[in-house]
Amino acid sequence: MPSTSLSDRGTLASTTPARIDYDAYHEAMADRYHPTENPDGKLPLNIAENRLSWHELKARIESITSEREIPEWVAGYTSARGALTFRKAVARFLTAHLTGCTIDPDHLGVSAGATSVIEMTSFILGEAGDVAVIPAPCYPVYRQDMAAFAGVERYDLVTHHELSEIARGPALTITHLEDARREIQASGRRFRMLVLTTPDNPTGGIYSTGQLSEMADWCIEREIHLVVNEIYGLSLIDTSHPGIAGDYGDVEPFHSFANVMADKQSDYLHLWYALSKDLGISGFRVGVVHSRNAPFIRAYQNLNLTHSVSNHTQWLLSHLLTDAEFMAGYIARNQRRLTNSYALVVDCLKRLDIAYAPSRGSLFAWIDLSEFMEGDSEADELTLWREIFEEAGVVLTPGPGFGHPKRGLFRVVYPCVTLEELRVVMERIETFVESRRG
Ligand SMILES: Cc1ncc(COP(=O)(O)O)c(C=O)c1O
Repeated sequence: MPSTSLSDRGTLASTTPARIDYDAYHEAMADRYHPTENPDGKLPLNIAENRLSWHELKARIESITSEREIPEWVAGYTSARGALTFRKAVARFLTAHLTGCTIDPDHLGVSAGATSVIEMTSFILGEAGDVAVIPAPCYPVYRQDMAAFAGVERYDLVTHHELSEIARGPALTITHLEDARREIQASGRRFRMLVLTTPDNPTGGIYSTGQLSEMADWCIEREIHLVVNEIYGLSLIDTSHPGIAGDYGDVEPFHSFANVMADKQSDYLHLWYALSKDLGISGFRVGVVHSRNAPFIRAYQNLNLTHSVSNHTQWLLSHLLTDAEFMAGYIARNQRRLTNSYALVVDCLKRLDIAYAPSRGSLFAWIDLSEFMEGDSEADELTLWREIFEEAGVVLTPGPGFGHPKRGLFRVVYPCVTLEELRVVMERIETFVESRRG
């Protein structure tokens, strides 16, 4: 480690970028596409944001703030894990729209985004050096959120190699978990947490209730914490859309893990949620943990001050979230927009015969461009990623960091641009593919 004025941790942080694709994102934003003013401009599709429905929420939020006086409590301290008023609003929202089963505000903690919730949960449940098992590929930033403060190490559990193996959903089985447990124990460490994301980032896969229940029993028996991240739980794709219906067959609808938790009543089961993706308000920084583990919630209460959400945001969003009729309409319209954009991507991928994992939800298409790589290394993948940026002006999220060994897989964040812009993106990708094959 080079000698600096910082701690070793600080020095490591100063030399470890949060993501390898941020620079390309900023480069693209500085020369962003506009249909008339910059038609050859760049289109970044690498950051997980949904921009399709903000106009609706913006209008609603503006009317909430213009019609109401700010109450007294907003200016002072409140409960560090979220004001009771807000936790009640979140509980009502989750019950009505995500879980179907009743959520108790006493079983909730609220922090500044899912990132904070992940960090807090890892800190409270794990010792430094403990292991969190995550089926690969998965959200790259888990690594940092779990390790930076809590010291919990990520273990990427490989369950498949080709996309065709996850066409019907996540491939994770108990055998995979047993194998991972043996390997972790053999290395002298402890398998402390299993983290599942459903719908998944980046594959869009959904775990069935049967799978979740089986994993929960396995974890409870071994005193391993099972945490399910449903941050994309309302960003669902309509699998009956005629352009994509052929990809699915008979699919079980999404069911929140909260139902399994209600059933099993265990201290080892927890749920993460956030408003960042389903409501497209990542900048508001609101994440939620739901747990029936009373000491966990007490620890959360005592530690969360560094991660709390501004009272003004809590007050404002209490009014938004409890407007059940507006929220139900918003969620349905948002899902229609997501589905239309996703179907546009799939239509192009099918024409080009590019493999993808059929998505049930999330903001992503996970696609296989490995045929365009020169070799099979991470460097070859990053070269291809840069070539797509330079030749097509499109930034995708590259595979390194997702923890999967197959090279040449890329994530397309299709709702971070308008449908019209997405058409331009897919035309450019088509031109790139044809020129490479041609
Ligand atoms: C699976 C997953 N968890 C957590 C996060 C972080 O969310 P937040 O912005 O609420 O911190 C993301 C963001 O992309 C994500 O995809």
